Amino acid sequence: MRTRPLSALRKAIARPAAPAASLKPRTRTGAALAGVLVIGMAGSLAMHQAPLPAAASGGTCSPTITTTPFGTTIEPYTGKPAQVFQYTLTNCTGMQVKILNYGGIVQSIAVPDRHGHAADVVLGFQTLNEYVSQDSPPPPAPGGPYFGETIGRYGNRIAKGTFTLDGNTYTLPINNNGNSLHGGFVGFGNHVWAPTVVQGNGTVGVQLKLVSPDGDDGANVGCSCTGYPGTLTMFVTYTLDSSSQLRIHYTATVAGKATVLNPTNHSYFNLAGESSGDVYAQKVMINADSYTPTDKTQIPTGVIAPVKGTPFDFTTPQTIGSRINESDPQLLIGQGYDHNWVLNRAGLQTGQLGLAARAWDPASGRELTVWTTEPGVQFYSGNFLTGSIVGISGHTYRQSAGYTFETQHYPDSPNHPNFPSTVLRPGQQFDSTTIFRFSTF
Ligand code: GLA
Repeated sequence: MRTRPLSALRKAIARPAAPAASLKPRTRTGAALAGVLVIGMAGSLAMHQAPLPAAASGGTCSPTITTTPFGTTIEPYTGKPAQVFQYTLTNCTGMQVKILNYGGIVQSIAVPDRHGHAADVVLGFQTLNEYVSQDSPPPPAPGGPYFGETIGRYGNRIAKGTFTLDGNTYTLPINNNGNSLHGGFVGFGNHVWAPTVVQGNGTVGVQLKLVSPDGDDGANVGCSCTGYPGTLTMFVTYTLDSSSQLRIHYTATVAGKATVLNPTNHSYFNLAGESSGDVYAQKVMINADSYTPTDKTQIPTGVIAPVKGTPFDFTTPQTIGSRINESDPQLLIGQGYDHNWVLNRAGLQTGQLGLAARAWDPASGRELTVWTTEPGVQFYSGNFLTGSIVGISGHTYRQSAGYTFETQHYPDSPNHPNFPSTVLRPGQQFDSTTIFRFSTF
């Protein structure tokens, strides 16, 4: 396990911040949030306050951000080399997050345990070359793990890589068992995004911008398919505050034609540390009474099924490993958990943050709370990590080395009129927020 004493992180905090290129206060703060009733780790009911407004904490210490060159790579849109940077966000409680403008990737998140020892709690690679060649390489390479990536245009699967919108049929690259997964051959995760450092209101962060052209992931990636319609201008902004909240804010507009959009972040968490082995003893709660079962190719059948009485019931905290090997047909299809949970959002407006999930590592005392404006979350237990990948600290990642909470609209929504819509039209503003908050118990 990679651990660092808190003192090392405190030293990092003393480093001067990079100059702020612009000040961008974020739109949604905790001020708009109501207290939410959740079930605590011990199974007792507790009033859990939603994410704190950043300005409400931090005292005299302010989070810092530093910028480090991380190498160059060929940008697929232009075919020319582009500079990649690593942004290191450090707060005053010993949390440090590294973001890359390549793929909008979260490379590492170091957080203290209950004794103040920090460990990196997400799976990642050490070098840009590994991200380029292994994270989500185009065919003929085998499908990658998408560690930490910003996924788009469409998070998770679109059946047979086709959908119709406004009477037009669109076709996408087939890259997963006859379906289109996570945007196609290139997606958002293999582009170099335009970065801007943002600071203010007790937070530091980086805003990343990508303009995805009309027909993206079609002919421009060598696919004899239409690609996604409309020119999409996409922003993802990562900010860290002193309440140990990593906030991910997505905005987008489309020009020319309507499109479908379902971005998410594909970080794999392991609260015991990214090199600590399997996560089966960690506990998870998902705030969902139902989920969307799939066919054998992992496309939702369209049914919204209750979780009660199944291994998919995480309404009270359960260890990941306690039921993962049951013979439930859905667990066999996913080779573990790899499904979309339908989040309980009763009483919440569209665009309001709601509790999605929580996770605990009993050994280290680290806890993660996930808030989102999205209606679903893909809880994926790292089933397809086969031991072929060596991670950021030199440890080989094997099955269930980490788990994702991919906040999202439901998979294959463009082909399911009964699912919340993922259509974005010219003149509309896409706006979505997810918060990963770390604490100890
Ligand atoms: C998603 C999918 C999984 C898998 C991973 C990446 O979570 O649902 O089936 O493809 O991405 O490996």
